[in-house]
Amino acid sequence: MTIRTATLQGVATIEIARPEKKNALTLAMYQAMADAINAAVADPAVRAVLITGQPGIFTSGNDLEDFMQRPPQGADSPVYRFMRALLDCDKPVVAAVTGAAVGIGTTMLLHCDLVYVSDEARLAMPFVSLGLVPEFASSLLVPQLMGHVKAAEKLMLGEPFTGSDAVDCGLANAVLPAGEVVNHARRMAERFNGLPPGAVRDTKRLMRAARQASVPPVMQAEGEIFSQRLRSPEAMEAFQAFFQKRKPDFSKF
Ligand code: COA
Repeated sequence: MTIRTATLQGVATIEIARPEKKNALTLAMYQAMADAINAAVADPAVRAVLITGQPGIFTSGNDLEDFMQRPPQGADSPVYRFMRALLDCDKPVVAAVTGAAVGIGTTMLLHCDLVYVSDEARLAMPFVSLGLVPEFASSLLVPQLMGHVKAAEKLMLGEPFTGSDAVDCGLANAVLPAGEVVNHARRMAERFNGLPPGAVRDTKRLMRAARQASVPPVMQAEGEIFSQRLRSPEAMEAFQAFFQKRKPDFSKF
């Protein structure tokens, strides 16, 4: 079992549970997460969605073996379906970032509504180091959040950053001790049980309205370049170096 789902007291929890591979996300896991979000939207008993990981690891991002063997192909790919479900989710989505959040692990936070981060977490968007480019509108939303130069450290240099940095730049609400982050996020999610769901839904839609126009074309442009770059010699060198546990050598490009 790599994605565990459970609905309790109005909160649909999606728990990423593949700790032996640092919660790297496979095609099947993306599909399970997409299905879980869509089911939560359809279930009137659900007032909020909670996405969480394992102690010390939220997710190490896309499974790099999948990137090599089964690269995502356009809008019908499971990763796209998951992100589409997240973007279209009209109920509040709360993230409990239990540890490292790499690649899409950080990107997905841009599309959540409340984000709580463990004090042990490190966030990173190392797309360039992998020969890739930002995804799911992060090339638009990260500079909007923190300004170009801070975004360049994160997206162009791929520098990791802490939960406190994430709070400072408006990507996260609060940093919590590692042992408390999931319970705190759950309590915040449960607060929606006491609020009128129609007003919550309408407020989320209004808050996201400006993005509805700007995000899809950026996502499409990023997706096209991302797909090309997945097959590039630069990306192949980066993926092989990861699995061979060595530093990549980009000097020949
Ligand atoms: N895809 C596939 N396998 C992954 C993975 C990923 N994204 N991340 C980790 N793993 C695997 C490792 O290959 C290793 O497998 P093994 O035990 O069979 O050798 C296992 O998970 C443990 O990973 P390891 O790197 O030894 O753990 P760590 O605690 O030293 O480091 C991370 C944790 C998350 C910092 C590190 O694993 C990492 O950087 N992963 C890749 C992140 C990445 O580039 N993601 C893609 C972004 S687009």
